[in-house]
Amino acid sequence: MLWTGEELQAALSARNADAFAASGISIDTRSIKPGDLFVALTAERDGHDYVAEALAKGAAGAMISRELGLDGHFLLVEDTLAGLTGLAAFARRRSAAKVIAVTGSVGKTTSKEMLRRALGGFGSVHAADASFNNHIGVPLTLARMPRDAEFAVLELGMNHPGEIAPLARLARPHVAVITAIARAHIGLMGSLEAIAAEKAAICLGLEPGGAAVLPADSAFFDQLKSFVPVAARCIGFGANESAQARLLNAASSADGCDVRGAIAGARAEFHLAAPGRHMAMNAMAALAACSALGLDIEKAAAALDGFLPFAGRGMRKVIEMRGGAAILLDESYNASGASLRAALEVLRLQPGRHVAVLGDMLELGEDERREHESLAAEVDASADILFACGPMMGFLFNLLPASKQGGYAADARALATIVQPALRPGDAVLVKGSYGSRMRDVVAALEAAHA
Ligand SMILES: Nc1ncnc2c1ncn2[C@@H]1O[C@H](COP(=O)(O)OP(=O)(O)O)[C@@H](O)[C@H]1O
Ligand SMILES: [Mg+2]
Repeated sequence: MLWTGEELQAALSARNADAFAASGISIDTRSIKPGDLFVALTAERDGHDYVAEALAKGAAGAMISRELGLDGHFLLVEDTLAGLTGLAAFARRRSAAKVIAVTGSVGKTTSKEMLRRALGGFGSVHAADASFNNHIGVPLTLARMPRDAEFAVLELGMNHPGEIAPLARLARPHVAVITAIARAHIGLMGSLEAIAAEKAAICLGLEPGGAAVLPADSAFFDQLKSFVPVAARCIGFGANESAQARLLNAASSADGCDVRGAIAGARAEFHLAAPGRHMAMNAMAALAACSALGLDIEKAAAALDGFLPFAGRGMRKVIEMRGGAAILLDESYNASGASLRAALEVLRLQPGRHVAVLGDMLELGEDERREHESLAAEVDASADILFACGPMMGFLFNLLPASKQGGYAADARALATIVQPALRPGDAVLVKGSYGSRMRDVVAALEAAHA
């Protein structure tokens, strides 16, 4: 049982003594399972309005912050988010798992999934679902952690100053990984230095004797290092000679990357079914974290062999059409300057005509126009034709030669109607933009049109 009644009582100073056990934790009645404890959070919606539905779907009980006059088992608390965080802290205390926390401007989810895979050969791994990386996602992931998990991998995200430290203190990692420092969310953070300082706050949660895994090629490496507690180890990953987890070679093809590395004296050679130097770097970060835990690196590297990127994060899809097929590179989940450059590198590796379909990158602040325009040369060097939507990508679009201006629209849905008829067999199509730009609508439309 994930939570006994006694543990729930001990973890929560609930105002009522209704002891009941729960086999899971849920905050969403759309995915709730019988036996779950439903936590009625008040975020965009008020979870209290869904308690009756949760109970009807077999929830063991609900954590609430006001009486609802319903029949069932309840834990009445002051604040349900504080309650969920209390469960998370208790789950962390009772756990003997080795905890790895991952943050960074890009590559968090990919590195977390690589770690889930690499650690899987050494024991049971509990890792965050999707991008559960904020003040709700992190405590939810911890509250769901099986008491006997041997490893836990958490993703810590932020887009405002001060968000990482409390998440790091809750996670109390043995290993803290920072994947990269880049201009994502710079509009809300102000500067790259501020982003680096915020990311470095992950070290504030490090367990005694823990280790920090840092990007050795980054201009911010020394700044990040200055945040590492003296009692903690510091492991650099990257291509430069000083890196303890050193990338020796990343030979990419259209659909994969042969990686060679040397990690703490061990050789690592594996093939990622995910092209691009950025994917090889994520793998080095994951292996550096494994070496920090003293694990067999060759075994961990072997587990990464064949790693495939996820939907919205580089997944490669085939679009069948009359006369042949096109390749779709689904990068629709998010975008910033660094990740767009990485995705353009992958587009350049593809055979056939290179088609870029780009939507706005968001949260870049007052420099957003310059951030977009600064990528025009790289888009021009990578794409034979560009389709764009959103005001900022419009500025980039206008900087491309007329021969490469495939089409522009105000939003993703409208753009999809222009892109779809323009595709040809043999094309390679990159679709990318921030989550809020809804480029997944273009992906869905292209897949539906050729299903
Ligand atoms: N190390 C990296 N450097 C640059 N871009 C990257 C890196 N890792 C992933 N990306 C790009 O960023 C996108 C999002 O990756 P993801 O792992 O979901 O990052 P995050 O969780 O930090 O948002 C990917 O689709 C890919 O294009
Ligand atoms: Mg993520």
